[in-house]
Amino acid sequence: MHKQHNEQQFGYFDDKKCEYVITDPHTPTPWINYLGNDGFYGLISNTGGGYCFYRDPKFRRLTRYRYNSVPVDNGGRYFYLKSEGQTWSATGRPVHTELDQYSCHHGMGYSRFKASKNAISSQVTSFIPLDTKAEVHQLELKNDSDTTKSIELFSFIEWCLWNAEDDGANFQRNLSTGEVEVEGSTIYHKTEYRERRNHYAFYSVNHPIDGFETDRETFLGPYRGFENPIAVERGKTANSLARGWSPIASHHIKCELAPGESKTLVFVLGYCEVEAENKWLAPNIINKQPAQTLQAQFDTSEKVTAELAKLHSYWQKLLGKFVVKSPDERFDRALNIWNQYQNMVTFNLSRSASFYESGIGRGMGFRDSNQDTIGFAHMVPEKVKERILDLSATQKTDGSAYHQYQPLTKKGNANIGGNFNDDPMWMVLSTANYIKETGDFSILNEMVIYDGQEQATHNHFDHLERAFNHVVNNLGPHGLPLIGRADWNDCLNLNCFSEDPNESYQTTQRGASDVAESVMIAGQFVLYGQEFVEICKRLGKSELASQCQSHVDKMRSTVDQHGWDGEWYIRAYDANGAKVGSHENAEGKIFIESQGFCAMAGIGSEQGKPLQAMQSVEKLLSTDFGIMLNQPAFTRYSKYMGEISSYPPGYKENAGIFCHNNPWITISEAMLGRSEKAFEYYSKITPAFLQDVQKLHKTEPYVYSQMIAGNDSANPGEAKNSWLTGTAAWNYYAATQYILGIRPDYDGLLIDPCILPSWKSVAITRQFRGATYEIELRNPSGLSKGKVQLSIDGVKIGGNLIDPKRYKGNHTVVAEIMA
Ligand code: BGC
Ligand code: NOJ
Repeated sequence: MHKQHNEQQFGYFDDKKCEYVITDPHTPTPWINYLGNDGFYGLISNTGGGYCFYRDPKFRRLTRYRYNSVPVDNGGRYFYLKSEGQTWSATGRPVHTELDQYSCHHGMGYSRFKASKNAISSQVTSFIPLDTKAEVHQLELKNDSDTTKSIELFSFIEWCLWNAEDDGANFQRNLSTGEVEVEGSTIYHKTEYRERRNHYAFYSVNHPIDGFETDRETFLGPYRGFENPIAVERGKTANSLARGWSPIASHHIKCELAPGESKTLVFVLGYCEVEAENKWLAPNIINKQPAQTLQAQFDTSEKVTAELAKLHSYWQKLLGKFVVKSPDERFDRALNIWNQYQNMVTFNLSRSASFYESGIGRGMGFRDSNQDTIGFAHMVPEKVKERILDLSATQKTDGSAYHQYQPLTKKGNANIGGNFNDDPMWMVLSTANYIKETGDFSILNEMVIYDGQEQATHNHFDHLERAFNHVVNNLGPHGLPLIGRADWNDCLNLNCFSEDPNESYQTTQRGASDVAESVMIAGQFVLYGQEFVEICKRLGKSELASQCQSHVDKMRSTVDQHGWDGEWYIRAYDANGAKVGSHENAEGKIFIESQGFCAMAGIGSEQGKPLQAMQSVEKLLSTDFGIMLNQPAFTRYSKYMGEISSYPPGYKENAGIFCHNNPWITISEAMLGRSEKAFEYYSKITPAFLQDVQKLHKTEPYVYSQMIAGNDSANPGEAKNSWLTGTAAWNYYAATQYILGIRPDYDGLLIDPCILPSWKSVAITRQFRGATYEIELRNPSGLSKGKVQLSIDGVKIGGNLIDPKRYKGNHTVVAEIMA
């Protein structure tokens, strides 16, 4: 159907370099990259747009970014080049001049922009060095002609006045607060440093400058935009010192390049904190020492090159922990490079800052961040442990949790809403997955505060127990879990009843909340409740284990009894006790979430319910572009359904292809041994498989998007909300642990593949608890799934578990799939 063809390519993968190369600056949406991986972050589009922040995109925003701007990625780190009367941009924008050559190379933690115009070529390499609170932009200019060229360069960034929300709203104040200082080639941004801020930012270059501008209007000129600043047009700066209004930083450098000659400049955009007692050098003169130290680390291109090499090897090492070579190179590039890369980004930023998430609305989501860890635990397990414990510390004593916390303070944020009754159990998933990866049960003994406590009185295990009990203590009339504000589907608001367009669905609640039940949470409880039972057993808590087991068993039979519609699992019961997601409904007869969770939990497997549910999914929800969330779409707003019915049919939670939940079906199919279905669902939403539909898909063709428009929409296949989506972790988890079947478990590494019958051999490198395994999956009989015969270092062993206690160093594993 909707496949369109190759003239729509805007770029391609360069797997050797782990890069995506964009060859046309006019991508359908800004195609961005993330810089930084440990606190200091930058978002950078394929034309240099975007912004950076330290830790918290709301409270520590360094550079300004205007949401809803046109073009969308307006504002960024710009380099204006001017020679022989012509002006252009080294990153392709904002100047409109068509370049003779343009490419943007988004790589692992860096982006490189190559441009050439009138025989002058440039290359900007942008990255955040490891352990550094600064963006480095290295600019190389080269004269490719045989005559001498004079070139004028103007850098440009615009400061954000720190609090990004206030910056975009409170103009009566903030047009008067801006302050800067300039010393040598460094422009310092010190707004609010005079009062309660013990931090400032700077933009420097390792070269003498011929002038500067720090006042935006002086640089741009009245009523001009970024595309034609008057300072660039005149080739002259006024050395303006911003007082209020909108402070910027622009350096002016003139240079002359002989034929073939090149020149490299290093720009550093940094953030410094200063202890309160050392803030000032003299009245009104800031202490520049921390900035100078930072600048000195990157003041030559040799130092920059060395830092970039460190970043490359950091990523090489990380990506080396899991490498697959299958018969399909798209599968390999997704799993080996881009999916893991995206997993790091979603782990770091949850749903806070992207080109679709403003960075001022949401912090670290409780359910989101717990789920994000399942794509990242094999990469940096220490960080996962820390994250799980941070999340745990926002849990309330009744086992529920703040829906989000602010990264700067690590405190729960009540404004965003609470009472999402699926939240607590995700922490059982993240914790179990972490233990299975590392074997580290000590996480359970860590003492963790509950919300509001000063000192921790209970350990993390107790937090999990309260999460479990939160479900047990909140059951509805059928014995199914009460849904609360909502479950995983934030838009199925069964207790909201809103008729006022000014109310948020996420915080409004009129219903009593004691009737509406969720079959999705029931499935989640059976699946992760069983996991909790296992943890109890392993800790020797057998009495607790059997108590909990009986709750899980009971839930299983409750779903059997009240959660099955005949051909699929029901979705919920609403506030009136009526079914949602049943053939009895006119709209929303079937929903994906309960199919995924109840099938993964194997509920009713004796009667073949999971398989039947999968057949219904295929028949009623599957499309060319992935699996839709529900069908039929809601065509009218219903206050009893909430936000889901607010979306036009085919978008977002209303029958969009909400990619995050597709892997639940992939996993269920793999558990049933149906490898072709599993692979089909996996690949339909995986960007590496969608290169011929770049134009239709619109968002970055190297990362998952949250949503692809469904069949009811005007444009099925069109994606939105790229980057920050749980799809990344889940599809990675589905492909590695259930398709390839390389699955960490408490006692070791399970090998339990469900691969395409046509795949005769797949090679996998997997680092696991201190050893490296070179695994070959052999499938000589072309099976989807079968019994696995393992040989380790040539010796046959019984069962399909690699016992890590027996191995250190490198080992060869052959896993033959047999009937
Ligand atoms: C979106 C959901 C999201 C929620 C969070 C809704 O508008 O549709 O995907 O989870 O907002 O606040
Ligand atoms: C996006 C939210 O971040 C996530 O928490 C939620 O589960 C999905 N939307 C579905 O509503």
